[in-house]
Amino acid sequence: MKHLRMITLVLGPVFLLSAMTVMAQDHQTPIAPQEYLDMESPIDDDDVDEDFLKTTKRVYKSKCKKCHGMSGDGEGSAAADIEIKPTAFNATGYMESKSDGQLFWIIEYGSEGTEMEGFGPESDAGLSEEKLWELVSYMRANFTN
Ligand code: HEC
Repeated sequence: MKHLRMITLVLGPVFLLSAMTVMAQDHQTPIAPQEYLDMESPIDDDDVDEDFLKTTKRVYKSKCKKCHGMSGDGEGSAAADIEIKPTAFNATGYMESKSDGQLFWIIEYGSEGTEMEGFGPESDAGLSEEKLWELVSYMRANFTN
């Protein structure tokens, strides 16, 4: 019995840790409800000029950079300590693979069970819907590869 308890004590944490790693690897970013997937950004591409990007950059820098990184590589200063890693937006094809509505939905409500919190009007950050769409435009302009 004593041996068994020892084995449990020693191996328990090992099993737990490997289970957590598997869970993190298996994590799939949730897909937005259809009504969001059907949404298109109300922001016209022509309005995404230097001034627009300069203003939006401030929001990205203060709210998103620590995880997603200024270059959108998902390696911000907080990323190392996070189990389910922040998405790398600058990966080839990533931005094109995601619809406006999917990006908007995650930014508004976050992704349950991950460090990605919601930033929408009902959240602590309380960004307006307009600001959320501006972030989507900022991401498309800077991270499309
Ligand atoms: C504390 C860390 C953290 C911060 C700050 C953060 N994110 Fe995230 N973000 C994550 C993580 C972790 C994921 C991965 C979630 C998943 O895969 O379920 C993620 C995923 C995303 C996605 C992926 C959506 C998809 O379908 O692929 C988008 C878009 C996003 N974040 C935008 C933002 C924006 C914009 C900000 C700033 C307003 C921000 N994030 C701030 C951690 C963060």
